[in-house]
Amino acid sequence: MTGLLDGRRILVTGALGGIGAALIRSIEAEGGEVVGIDRPEVVARDGAHTVHGVDLTAEGATTRVHDLCRALGGIDGLVNNAGIEHRAALSEHTDDDWSRVMAVNLDVPFRLSRDLADLLAAGSDATIVNICSIAVTGFAGQVAYDASKGGLQTLTRSLAVELGPRGIRANAICPGFIDTPMLDTGDLRGLAAKVARGLPLRRLGTPDDIGHAVVWLLSDRSRYITGQSLYVDGGMIRS
Ligand SMILES: NC(=O)c1ccc[n+]([C@@H]2O[C@H](COP(=O)([O-])OP(=O)(O)OC[C@H]3O[C@@H](n4cnc5c(N)ncnc54)[C@H](O)[C@@H]3O)[C@@H](O)[C@H]2O)c1
Repeated sequence: MTGLLDGRRILVTGALGGIGAALIRSIEAEGGEVVGIDRPEVVARDGAHTVHGVDLTAEGATTRVHDLCRALGGIDGLVNNAGIEHRAALSEHTDDDWSRVMAVNLDVPFRLSRDLADLLAAGSDATIVNICSIAVTGFAGQVAYDASKGGLQTLTRSLAVELGPRGIRANAICPGFIDTPMLDTGDLRGLAAKVARGLPLRRLGTPDDIGHAVVWLLSDRSRYITGQSLYVDGGMIRS
């Protein structure tokens, strides 16, 4: 049987989180090979053998990831999935909160895209998928997170334009409220449950809902699509 991602090597960040684990399942189910990255302490706790422990915000982290990918013979896809939330009113957001969120959610995807572009260009039908959020529309109580995801969405468009001529596509997925450990940040789970009751599809998303959409964007079934944002949110945002 042939899969949508047969023989494709895909780097996935945040690979041991709720959505990351589903990405591994979905990609492998379609014949792809995953190179996973997550924080060293998370890998030590519950790492699979294909997940490497790297704090992506540490100095030299992207060089380490580059060397890792080169040693494995290259990559054909990059999924910037690692991310952190911070729930607090605007007046309670410290400079450190802002910098910490930006470092993981925006700086890391920028550096990985820049530093892995040559490897991706040498790969086959190379694709970048950035995991943004419905937060790009703006929510109360998470100004740093919202701004980081808005920046990531715009970064995606810029990457599509600049890397398209080199054969690399770049798209964003904007998940709605997905049932993962991230919903345990602050008051998020209560908010998510309330919003889900009013959605056209009347439920929270599952990590596999995101995995299926990412597989499609990584595959050549979406080969003429670049610079786009796909909202996987039960019908919350209708673009
Ligand atoms: N769950 C949701 O409702 C939801 C909604 C919209 C967008 N998202 C986005 O989806 C992505 C995945 O979220 P999730 O719900 O699976 O969250 P999660 O908290 O379950 O997983 C995030 C993973 O990223 C890893 N990570 C964080 N900082 C890292 C670092 N410095 N280096 C390496 N790895 C790091 C964490 O260890 C964790 O395994 C995030 O970008 C998030 O913003 C989630």
